[in-house]
Amino acid sequence: MKILITSALPYINGVKHLGNLVGSILPADVYARFRRQMGDEVLYICATDEHGTPAELAALEAGQDVADYCREQYEVQRDIYERFAISFDYFGRSSSPDNHEITQHFAQKLDENGFIEEREINQVYSIDDGRFLPDRYVEGTCPNCGYEKARGDQCENCTKLLDPTDLIDPRSAVSGSVNIEIRATRHLFLKQSALIGEVEEWIDRHADWPPLVTSIAKKWIKEGVRDRCITRDLSWGVPVDRPGFEGKVFYVWFDAPIAYISTTKTWGEEDPATRDWKAWWTESEDVSYVQFMAKDNIPFHTISFPATLIGSREPWKKVDRLKGFNWLTYYGGKFSTSSKRGIFTDQALAEEPADYWRYWLIANAPESGDSVFTVDRFAEQCNKDLAHTLGNFVNRTMKFCEKNFGAEVPAGGEWTEAERAMQAELEGLIADYTRHMTAIEFRKALASLRAIWSLGNTYLADAAPWTAIKQDRERAACIIRMGLNLTRLFAVLAWSVIPDSAARMLDAVGEKPADGEVPTWPGQDVEGELTVLEPGRPFTAPPPLFKVLDEDRIAALTERYGGAEG
Ligand code: 2FM
Ligand code: ZN
Repeated sequence: MKILITSALPYINGVKHLGNLVGSILPADVYARFRRQMGDEVLYICATDEHGTPAELAALEAGQDVADYCREQYEVQRDIYERFAISFDYFGRSSSPDNHEITQHFAQKLDENGFIEEREINQVYSIDDGRFLPDRYVEGTCPNCGYEKARGDQCENCTKLLDPTDLIDPRSAVSGSVNIEIRATRHLFLKQSALIGEVEEWIDRHADWPPLVTSIAKKWIKEGVRDRCITRDLSWGVPVDRPGFEGKVFYVWFDAPIAYISTTKTWGEEDPATRDWKAWWTESEDVSYVQFMAKDNIPFHTISFPATLIGSREPWKKVDRLKGFNWLTYYGGKFSTSSKRGIFTDQALAEEPADYWRYWLIANAPESGDSVFTVDRFAEQCNKDLAHTLGNFVNRTMKFCEKNFGAEVPAGGEWTEAERAMQAELEGLIADYTRHMTAIEFRKALASLRAIWSLGNTYLADAAPWTAIKQDRERAACIIRMGLNLTRLFAVLAWSVIPDSAARMLDAVGEKPADGEVPTWPGQDVEGELTVLEPGRPFTAPPPLFKVLDEDRIAALTERYGGAEG
């Protein structure tokens, strides 16, 4: 089966925090890895979301030209995702030439089909800056609370939603100039009202979407979907190719989702002989398309973007399964990029290996409700599951083998009732795990994975090779052979979640996948899976796979990231 996966495009304005990571890119990666293991043909596409006011403002703050700023920040983010072992097939940029071309193509098609309308609206113009100011570029005094630095879209102090014309003593946030006026300007509107019927019919055909997704989409429709202004008076963005629209660009939310398509094109063009990018997006009945995003993105992906695709009257692929996430909170409050509150992805990597974060975040993915990050919770669960359960199992098995049989899979002994019973239980747990991963239910999936690791520990504790070795060396050999085979199987099953550690485990037993290869998901024959490593196969016991985060380490992390405001 062909599976197209996209995760919401991260904004270019600075390094993302752990809440952003768990809301789209990380779960998409785990799912992509899992489907590859299942033998599916997967294409995982993502990109930086580079246009719009946030990018311009961030560049301004950094004192950089916006194009330079985006180029630099793209590299920063790309590097971080690589260190998190995110397995994009392509990580592109929404500012790419392909995205310019395809965005303009959609605008043209929508226009030809009568879904674009020019309208005149009033906007704030800064005479000294020589430009129109988007809402949040206008600052002034809040008419509601008197806060002097309220922005034109909202007052940060009292949270009241504002219109720039509401502000008292308005001024430009770009230059501080008060020499501003209201001017009429022409913009393009996407007639969503004319498309909403078709969009709703399409939504109704997806009875299998998670309740979170359907309820958000339906709520928007019920509240009335208005025509959307899809152009802005900015210079950074996709230019609007239309007389009278010089100096205007498309609205960031118009071009960003189109970048899913255009980034696929860029991927395809790197190797046209083997990569047919169009086959993923048009005439693609054999493709199942899965999107990952946080819940605030759901309206854009269930209504605005589908309206663009439908209105083009071209056969573009639309999402089949949409996985939305609630929020990861930081000590019960908000992770916040603007106030630098939380743990950011670069900081996380500087503290602990990627697998610790990957494991904790996926095990606690905010699926059915919000979930809470604290250093204590993070450390406690990593210690318990990774160091004490998985790590200890591997370590004990290999050390015991080395000491008593040497560094190779020992021969001798036959399976007994203990092995058969363990195998039967394991079969059930693997079936559960596979079912939950297929359903993209990560918390349930990881509960099954933990149960699988625990089963290994219980088996080892009950079979007690350290006792057996005293009277029955063959019996001890059989148990340890099982332990080594379980190690291999645990690695295969955990590879999508903790790829580095899984690769180290596989390497230890001589099964490391070559570059670009993925360990095949176990089939029905679990007995076969438990006898892959035959007697005589050499292994190399790795150093402990996971370290325990001890009290000192927890104290140090708490001091740095203990959730204090600021
Ligand atoms: O909310 C966000 O982070 C946006 N940058 C997501 C864009 S997703 C897409 F449609 F491009
Ligand atoms: Zn206010």
